[in-house]
Amino acid sequence: MASTVVPPAKAATSDAVEIRRAAPRDFEIVIGLRRSLRREERPGEEPIDAQLRSMTRKQLNAAGQVIFLAEVADEAVGILRCALQAPTELVARTALLTTAYVDPAWRRRGIMTRLVDAAEGWCASHGVRDLRLRNAHDNAAANGAWEALGFRVVQVVRQRRTER
Ligand SMILES: CC(C)(COP(=O)(O)OP(=O)(O)OC[C@H]1O[C@@H](n2cnc3c(N)ncnc32)[C@H](O)[C@@H]1OP(=O)(O)O)[C@@H](O)C(=O)NCCC(=O)NCCS
Repeated sequence: MASTVVPPAKAATSDAVEIRRAAPRDFEIVIGLRRSLRREERPGEEPIDAQLRSMTRKQLNAAGQVIFLAEVADEAVGILRCALQAPTELVARTALLTTAYVDPAWRRRGIMTRLVDAAEGWCASHGVRDLRLRNAHDNAAANGAWEALGFRVVQVVRQRRTER
């Protein structure tokens, strides 16, 4: 889903963008942004729509999580999901950020910064101050954005592919 709204000058973006919580009626908007994210993450692979739709429907109606949308002139240009995680023996209550995406035409204008800010406020209202996320180690944009937004590496996931 590409934005049809022409981005204003960079400095004017903040005034043009509105951040709001997605409601169940925003289902198709959320699906559109998630499709765009999947296409960018896995070029050449069509997103499995049935999976996306059933996951999104559940999430939009679930407690303990929120999806924020960034909108310009009623058109969605960014998305971020934030879900509270149950505490474990080792880690107190955290929140996991997923589905982080900004329309390519709107990047580097502080939109993800605003979405993370909204997620942080929502977490604080639930007494959670530990925000976490996962990203591919070679995703330069994500590494740049998360570093700039104060996310430090606390875990590393290693993979070994086997033939068996
Ligand atoms: C990563 C992404 C969400 C960032 O969104 P954004 O709205 O452009 O981020 P912001 O404008 O709030 O950036 C804040 C700061 O992060 C850093 N940053 C953002 N994008 C960057 C990039 N491509 N390279 C290096 N640093 C970057 C910069 O310091 C930036 O501040 P600046 O523009 O004043 O220099 C966006 O590039 C995107 O949607 N990428 C494709 C999907 C994706 O990779 N999602 C993350 C999956 S974990």
